[in-house]
Amino acid sequence: MAAPQPPRTDAWWRDAVIYQVYPRSFADGDGDGTGDLAGIRARLPHLAELGVDAVWFTPWYTSPMIDGGYDVTDYRAIDPAFGTLDDAEKLIAEAHALGIRTIVDIVPNHVSDQHPWFQAALTAGPGSPERARFHFRPGRGEHGQDPPNTWPSQFSGTTWTRVPDGEYYLHLFTPQQPDLNWNHPDVRREHEDILRFWFDRGVAGVRIDSAALLVKHPDLPDLHEDTDPHPYIDQDELHDIYRSWRTVADQYGAVFVGEVWLPDAERFARYLRPGELHTAFNFSFLTCPWEPERLRAAIDDTLAEHAPVGAPATWVLCNHDVTRTVTRYGRTDTAFDFATKTFDTPTDLQLGTRRARAAALLTLALPGSVYLYQGEELGLPEADIPRERIQDPMHFRSGGTDPGRDGCRVPLPWHADAPHYGFSTTSTQTGTGGEPWLPQPDDWADYAVDRQATDPHSMLTLYRRALHLRRTEPGFGDGPLTWQPTHPGVLTFTRPHGLTCTVNLTDHPVPLPPHTHLLLTSNPLHPDGTLPPDTTAWLRGRRP
Ligand code: GLC
Repeated sequence: MAAPQPPRTDAWWRDAVIYQVYPRSFADGDGDGTGDLAGIRARLPHLAELGVDAVWFTPWYTSPMIDGGYDVTDYRAIDPAFGTLDDAEKLIAEAHALGIRTIVDIVPNHVSDQHPWFQAALTAGPGSPERARFHFRPGRGEHGQDPPNTWPSQFSGTTWTRVPDGEYYLHLFTPQQPDLNWNHPDVRREHEDILRFWFDRGVAGVRIDSAALLVKHPDLPDLHEDTDPHPYIDQDELHDIYRSWRTVADQYGAVFVGEVWLPDAERFARYLRPGELHTAFNFSFLTCPWEPERLRAAIDDTLAEHAPVGAPATWVLCNHDVTRTVTRYGRTDTAFDFATKTFDTPTDLQLGTRRARAAALLTLALPGSVYLYQGEELGLPEADIPRERIQDPMHFRSGGTDPGRDGCRVPLPWHADAPHYGFSTTSTQTGTGGEPWLPQPDDWADYAVDRQATDPHSMLTLYRRALHLRRTEPGFGDGPLTWQPTHPGVLTFTRPHGLTCTVNLTDHPVPLPPHTHLLLTSNPLHPDGTLPPDTTAWLRGRRP
């Protein structure tokens, strides 16, 4: 068993490796085809062996699951499909005993339309105090036939739904996710209470969903291309909310990571000022194509925007919302963009996997913390989901043109030869187990954990080695990064203690920088000792 955790005041989050669990698809403990907390508890040894510092669970609260649990009816209860609060407490404690901290996902922008507050608002009618917790407005036009404004939804279509008494309510996402009114004291009080509820249960951190969207301009003005400032993204009042949240977190030594999609570096960094959020996701790196200049610029910009506020960077290659890394890197266009996703984009998985391996070592050598999304350590590709099995509202709301996000949410393969690759932990013992909620591709046996665990060349072995070195060797994590002069198309930087990371993004082999020790490479070197294309090496020794 791993050593007990350091004291909670330790700045562990400045260079942690945090593993994102999507509970529905991680492991199924009761054999019904949906992942659950019992399944996760049974598979905790996988995470300990991988060597992660913390786990972030996407929402596990009671929910009709219209948006994969991001439509919450009770933030203090676990969805029965996943288990009970008692299971969650056991899971937090068992992970803790393995040296793994827990981060929960809080969804403050909206609730489920089944949430008691929204149900009460529907019943109470126009002008009621119950409606004031949301954004209800009369329609425009002679008969109120037009929605109150022109805001487009984050998931295509309108942001307004009309209720039988004629009023409309605002939802930036689906109609089943009404937006809360963050100018209402109940909303603020309730969320601080929810934070305390989870911190009291030993949770070490909170991921804040859609963190830059909570506050809306009080007049809800129309949105045109040139509307400035934007009426609902990045409102200044958000900072008061997060300063207040921070005082709660500080009482527990707990930390925040914000989901902040903002192109403006200076505005982004405001969320990370002392007394606000500890960290925020760095999406410029996630969306960046596999190109040396662009990657270097994304790294430099990220470090530059974090430096003035003293916050550590976070590095993410994929999550439950975006195309799996090996698939994206095998395409002609290796960038990620929600707006341009289509069905049947061709990919070269061998090339994509090679690049994903190189990207893994690049990412793990950068200063700051790293997020891994379940299955990334297995090199899982994006799965093609038959259209009749798609569940993601992003697909439906696009009119069926956007493939949606289910392709990266497929249940994990654990055992190559078990039914459904052992996704149901019961199936490995009994040979049975329910059909997974999303279909797994037929050719995933080689991706299974058990097969990869014994293969020295597998993605899993690479991640295990890399995480072990990152934890035991000096120079990784928080601290300075210095670029070194090198060949065009090669990225080489040094870290403290003579650690060097070099990535070959050219199409030909290049010599390694001078070194005394070769710590790890993402693919074997050429017999003459040169670094092949799309390969990363970690070195130690003389400066290049
Ligand atoms: C965040 C989540 C995404 C969800 C959305 C609405 O972007 O990552 O999965 O659909 O918020 O809550």
